[in-house]
Amino acid sequence: MEHIEIKGGHRLSGTVRISGAKNAALPILAATLLAPGKFQLHEVPQLEDVKIFLRLLQELGVKWERTSDHSLEIDSSGLKNFEAPYDLVRLMRASILVLGPLVARLGRARVALPGGCAIGARPIDLHLKGLELMGAKLKIKEGFVEAKAKRLNGATIYFDITSVTGTENLMMAASLAKGKTILENAAREPEVVALGELLLQMGAKIKGLGTDTITIEGSKELKAVDWTIIPDRIEAGTFLMAVGAAGGKLIIENCIPSHLDAVLEKLKNAGLKIDIIDKDKIGVQRRGKLKSIDIKTQPYPGFPTDLQAQIMVLMSIASGLSVITETIFENRFMHVAELRRLGADIKVEGRNAIVRGVSELTGAPVMATDLRASASLILAGLSAKGTTIIQGLNHLDRGYERIDKKLSAVGARIKRLKNGKEIT
Ligand code: EPZ
Repeated sequence: MEHIEIKGGHRLSGTVRISGAKNAALPILAATLLAPGKFQLHEVPQLEDVKIFLRLLQELGVKWERTSDHSLEIDSSGLKNFEAPYDLVRLMRASILVLGPLVARLGRARVALPGGCAIGARPIDLHLKGLELMGAKLKIKEGFVEAKAKRLNGATIYFDITSVTGTENLMMAASLAKGKTILENAAREPEVVALGELLLQMGAKIKGLGTDTITIEGSKELKAVDWTIIPDRIEAGTFLMAVGAAGGKLIIENCIPSHLDAVLEKLKNAGLKIDIIDKDKIGVQRRGKLKSIDIKTQPYPGFPTDLQAQIMVLMSIASGLSVITETIFENRFMHVAELRRLGADIKVEGRNAIVRGVSELTGAPVMATDLRASASLILAGLSAKGTTIIQGLNHLDRGYERIDKKLSAVGARIKRLKNGKEIT
């Protein structure tokens, strides 16, 4: 069994380069279904989720090849299959992002319904309602959603709940629909904006990116382009918080500070020294004990739910009482039980986690339950006295490109081991 072993209490120092954003790469891979021809994609992170998405595209008839460590050439000219099989969709819920593009490009789609996951039921009703409003005929049968439409029509779609992939799916579908689509209460995440900017480059007509109302004028066809994936703001936030956990100072490069406004504000309030060094560089330093602050997760530009587990580690060793409220997912406190094993004092009451700072955490064996929980356990291990062993690395590899190697390069005593042998 592969596991990570961390000897805590070692300050960090040096420079870390952030990889391309997982949550930008996945919708952008889906967007290659919208246009025949060769896409050249750069800064594609080497993640399990990206590998699964490429397997899915290949299943659909898309050709792809890796042209360098972080670049791909993708050609969906041969797209013919419209079925996304359950054995791939169950591995990665973001597979649902092929639904909109397949209906738009082929007029048909049969996509296995993604089940729930550790952090919640994760329904896709808003994706389906939007496609129906655009004229698709939908059927739910044998665990699949089947969608048909000769050509989708533009429609006005109001999201009862702001949905990132819901907005992305329907923005892609609308880009080839007949007429105008208005997405209201749309998501404003940088990854949604990045997808919209790619679609614009492909010839789509889109207005309102980054606001809660996005207007798309459908085109008859779009073209393949070259594109570079934006840096991963959640990975950047995770490394900022690694300094909060372990102490020391880091320079985070290849990041976009303006994507992290809410996070930087909170980390400053907690007592970290934050310097915007350049348009793509942030300096972070911990000086003394952290202060307890309250956090409430919100859709962008609020504090991201994907950094909730990580900041909980910082509050576990801060000077007082912190209330962390998770408003996006109904079950995203799975890391609490594991943090308690390391000595954290956390009580969960519904959507709130009450965190009372302790003087220090103590290393122990723990089990990761989901992607961001595994990141929080690593941060806790960096901080804890003694040795922490983390299992469940399949979750971690979905969203972080060898975070253990990046951390050991800046002073963390962290090793990845399989059957007792170190994996370098
Ligand atoms: C995206 O998930 C991200 N994944 C998640 O990142 C992220 O946590 C989430 O957005 C929120 O920012 C990708 O981009 C691939 P939502 P998504 O639809 O789109 C409810 C990570 O760790 N909802 O914005 O699935 C839903 O239950 C992952 O990288 C419906 O009710 O999230 C949730 O409560 C985890 N019906 C809320 O909306 C729907 O049809 C927001 O979910 C869709 C969503």
